[in-house]
Amino acid sequence: MNQATINNKIFEIFIRDKEISDIVNQISSQINKSDIKDPLFISILNGSFLFTADIFRKITIPNSEITFVKLSSYNGTETTGKVNTIIGLEHDLSNRNVIILEDIIDTGITLEKVIQILKEKNVAEIKIATLLFKPEAYQKSIPIDFIGKEIPNDFVIGYGLDYNEYGRNLPHIYKLKNKEKC
Ligand code: IMP
Ligand code: MG
Repeated sequence: MNQATINNKIFEIFIRDKEISDIVNQISSQINKSDIKDPLFISILNGSFLFTADIFRKITIPNSEITFVKLSSYNGTETTGKVNTIIGLEHDLSNRNVIILEDIIDTGITLEKVIQILKEKNVAEIKIATLLFKPEAYQKSIPIDFIGKEIPNDFVIGYGLDYNEYGRNLPHIYKLKNKEKC
């Protein structure tokens, strides 16, 4: 399938499943070779669920654990406005070495929020692994430890990534055909 249509938008094939699996192998082997001890993987839902499943089954570090979190946005007080919080983080994180698993890092705003929340929970060490990274869109200076593939500033779907919640089940990654905004 070289094209996918979602809500009248046409997406074209961008990264095939074979390449995705090569990228997953490469990231998991980099993580396995790193010096991180007793890691707690933190998968950021929803987008990362397939990437997480594929990465985690390849991790060979002893005492590896995994948990799943979701960011929720809500309207706080008038002064704070929109606030992001993490739902689902029941682990005691103090002194833990965590590895964040992200599907894609775009502006980096989500990543910055997650890191801020984890630091408040007194983690020992934070490493970040992302399947995709858009350097042209990135607005932060937080270093990313494991990057699967750098991509241009295109909107992509498939392998967990969505457009209006659709497209997550596509086995390949597709990009929006025309440079219109999603
Ligand atoms: P951020 O801009 O780095 O905060 O990215 C926030 C979130 O937007 C990511 O975790 C994705 O869920 C979503 N996102 C960013 N770029 C894309 C894309 O190209 N396709 C689908 N979702 C995206
Ligand atoms: Mg996401």
